[in-house]
Amino acid sequence: TGSLTVGELAKKLGKEPSEIIKKLLFLGIMATINQEIELEAIQLIAEEYGVKVEEKIEIDEDQFELIEDHDDPADLTVRPPVVTIMGHVDHGKTTLLDAIRKSKIVAGEAGGITQHIGAYQVVINDKKITFLDTPGHAAFTSMRARGAKVTDITILVVAADDGMMPQTIEAINHAKAANVPIIVAVNKMDKPEANPDRVKQQLAEHGLLPEEWGGDTIYVPVSALKQEGLDELLEMILLVAEVQELKANPNRLAKGTIIESQLDKGRGAVATVLVQNGTLRVGDPIVAGATYGKVRAMVNDRGKRIKEAGPSTPVEITGLNEVPHAGDPFVVFEEERKARVIGEKRALKLRQSELNATSKVTLDDLYKQI
Ligand code: GTP
Ligand code: MG
Repeated sequence: TGSLTVGELAKKLGKEPSEIIKKLLFLGIMATINQEIELEAIQLIAEEYGVKVEEKIEIDEDQFELIEDHDDPADLTVRPPVVTIMGHVDHGKTTLLDAIRKSKIVAGEAGGITQHIGAYQVVINDKKITFLDTPGHAAFTSMRARGAKVTDITILVVAADDGMMPQTIEAINHAKAANVPIIVAVNKMDKPEANPDRVKQQLAEHGLLPEEWGGDTIYVPVSALKQEGLDELLEMILLVAEVQELKANPNRLAKGTIIESQLDKGRGAVATVLVQNGTLRVGDPIVAGATYGKVRAMVNDRGKRIKEAGPSTPVEITGLNEVPHAGDPFVVFEEERKARVIGEKRALKLRQSELNATSKVTLDDLYKQI
């Protein structure tokens, strides 16, 4: 919020601070010279001096660079859809992800399967799909709060024997709020008590009316355990993706989002990142959240070392000075110096806001004790 202290406002208006303090008193606001005052009060005071104050949205330049895209439409090419799997506990999200991965990775590459990175890509008829392990609801929410849209399509897994459950509804709300289309995978169809119609009825009440009932939500019956219905599900994903016309510009510096991160004893900070635009290369100077560095090495979802990663590709990188947070945006800079300066600035800001948060908590605690 574009707030000012009493002293700053007085200076801007060319008045004595004491005069401003008096005016504020008339408004019922007791303030000292160094106190920040609300926009509304600033506007009222300024009006008395015939000055109109408009709220200016402040743009932090670093932040701006992290968000803005200036791609010429001519530079855009089709990119793979990024799919997340959500659903209630035990409805089969992990089993489904594993089943898709297993069914699509040829035997020779089997060694790569044990490599666990939180995301992988499969290829169907020359078309790629990127799957992200379900981010915790918290990570998903934090990404959304920052306006980072990572997911293009949500697969909502609902066990056909169990039906709609609280987290099913939560997932629907998340996807709707983020404006992400939902494909329903009605799982555990192999179970004798499976009742897909009941699932459809329940979800229809939450706005997911099946196509076969005149709505526009795709339902695919699957059994993650028996690996049945997976091809149909993948086909539907590609169909929905085609309608979305997902595009990116591979010929620019990369930017994207941190999917997961950890501290590795030998390799230091390790982060799985999703490249959302541009191409990420080994040696690139990078800022991720409040961390920075140079991409030292990149490993793909099959555990193979690679030199570059284009749009919608998940890769594991090393070379950051500290461990970034899942959900943090990352961006590549041309110059290492700039990445370092911005990274350090952001780290400082983060520390300051953490300090502020801490002092606030203690103050609250004090009040509680009184
Ligand atoms: P959380 O990560 O705990 O939220 O669970 P999840 O949604 O990842 O479920 P998970 O894949 O761990 O599966 C839960 C249980 O359901 C496991 O025992 C699976 O073997 C079983 N399961 C998953 N898919 C199927 C299926 O298609 N049919 C049957 N019969 N069982 C399944
Ligand atoms: Mg799971």
